[in-house]
Amino acid sequence: MATSNGGKIGDIPTDAMTLNRFVMEEQMKHPGASGSLTLLLSSLCTACKATEAAVRKAGIAQLYGIAGDTNSTGDEQKKLDVLANELFVNLLKSSYQTCAMVSEENEKMIEVPVAKHGRYIVCFDPLDGSSNIDCLVSIGSIFGIYKRESDGPVSTEDCLLPGNKLVAAGYCVFGTACMMVLSTGNGVNGFTLDPSIGEFILTASNMTIPSKGKIYSTNEGNAQYLDEKLQKYLYDCKFPKAGKPKAARYVGSMVADVHRTICYGGVFMYPANSTAANGKLRLLYECNPMSYIVEQAGGKAVTGRGQERVLDVVPTKLHERCPIFLGSSEDIDVILSYLNE
Ligand code: AHM
Ligand code: MG
Repeated sequence: MATSNGGKIGDIPTDAMTLNRFVMEEQMKHPGASGSLTLLLSSLCTACKATEAAVRKAGIAQLYGIAGDTNSTGDEQKKLDVLANELFVNLLKSSYQTCAMVSEENEKMIEVPVAKHGRYIVCFDPLDGSSNIDCLVSIGSIFGIYKRESDGPVSTEDCLLPGNKLVAAGYCVFGTACMMVLSTGNGVNGFTLDPSIGEFILTASNMTIPSKGKIYSTNEGNAQYLDEKLQKYLYDCKFPKAGKPKAARYVGSMVADVHRTICYGGVFMYPANSTAANGKLRLLYECNPMSYIVEQAGGKAVTGRGQERVLDVVPTKLHERCPIFLGSSEDIDVILSYLNE
């Protein structure tokens, strides 16, 4: 019989750090913890795994194309958007750990039946990067978790919390592999889905973003609508006074663009412009969770208004948009020096 060697028999790990185990071990470090966040994250994991499975077989399961409706901000809903949203809503409701949810796909706050109430509020974009679904380019899911601050019947106001009150946030990228990147406020860890056992396994512990990078990432097609100071920054990325120009990379899926930024360094931005006073991306379920992860990885995320952090913006409505510049801290400082000149 083969013997165990460092938690492995042959090449098969027998003691892998699954995401559920990781979260449970984190919970055990806090003796008073109830385990409710662990249960909530476990439901989110299932929602991401089910979404990943749907994404992988979309072409053969007639899941491409539009569902025939529009979402909260007037965008056309794709079939996969609707499916992913149903998965997130149903799995989170049945976790018994939430009292309300905010989804990109629902105009109003989603109320959880009182009998299933827990103390968390989850804001999510079940499938971000919709325009990339039908051409097989990376897409992802994003979520942010808050603890409810009030008692009594839950209201929309309960969900209008700034990102600096997040207790956890994460994203799952459906790319060449499926990876969940998670922070519960104690650094950032990445878990790759092992499809053979259907579990997320820790493959990137303590992810940190390089302090400086060589990449800038934005939809430069909008350049004519940008503030002149930002146009100057983009010009200098291509025609620097010294050294080599920066590389341009833009997937058009925030999850993929941010994940690359964390891995390789550089900046990702969706700034305000003359056609969109607050840019395009939504504060509660796109900008905040991603800013939280980037800050936890040692980077910066700002709005471009003075030195304002994205996480300090107090939302006034569920689907509020927010300009965003995030990435390597030194590169963000350079952008701020252009903007605040
Ligand atoms: P979506 O929520 O409708 O998918 O839109 C969000 C996406 C982000 O993933 C991405 O960063 C951005 O829209 C791209 O926008 P644009 O096509 O204007 O460059
Ligand atoms: Mg989105």
